[in-house]
Amino acid sequence: MEGMLLNLEMERRLIDEAMAAQKKAYAPYSGFHVGAALLGVNGVIYRGCNVENLSYGLTICAERVALCRAVADGHQQFEAMAIVTASQEPASPCGACRQCMAEFNADLPLILGNLEGRVVRYSLRELFPRAQTGILGRE
Ligand code: THU
Repeated sequence: MEGMLLNLEMERRLIDEAMAAQKKAYAPYSGFHVGAALLGVNGVIYRGCNVENLSYGLTICAERVALCRAVADGHQQFEAMAIVTASQEPASPCGACRQCMAEFNADLPLILGNLEGRVVRYSLRELFPRAQTGILGRE
């Protein structure tokens, strides 16, 4: 199942889930609300939103919230993640989130969308190549 091409219906569903998650964002400092929806190989979708903090530095991105929810629920194999923001250009995940996603699937398909319905697609490997090369002797 992993690496399977997403059909358009599932892609639409993931974007809808990410939009619903975006509404839950706690972002009083930046005002930038982000929603994520992570699809497990078992078909379960985990939502995440950014959770900011007065310290700024302790802010957690939507993508890592979704990932941690899934792992805490016993799921470690993922098929795709949708990320939705209110920006003009769909936003791409930060470096920390790319590293955390690569831990579980370096080829994770990413669907980036905005509220106007613009969608762009990447493989995580395009945004974060050589994620593990050389580290702890990995290929
Ligand atoms: N943020 C995310 O949650 N995911 C991204 O992909 C980009 C950035 C959050 C972190 C912070 O709360 C706000 O957006 C501004 O950077």
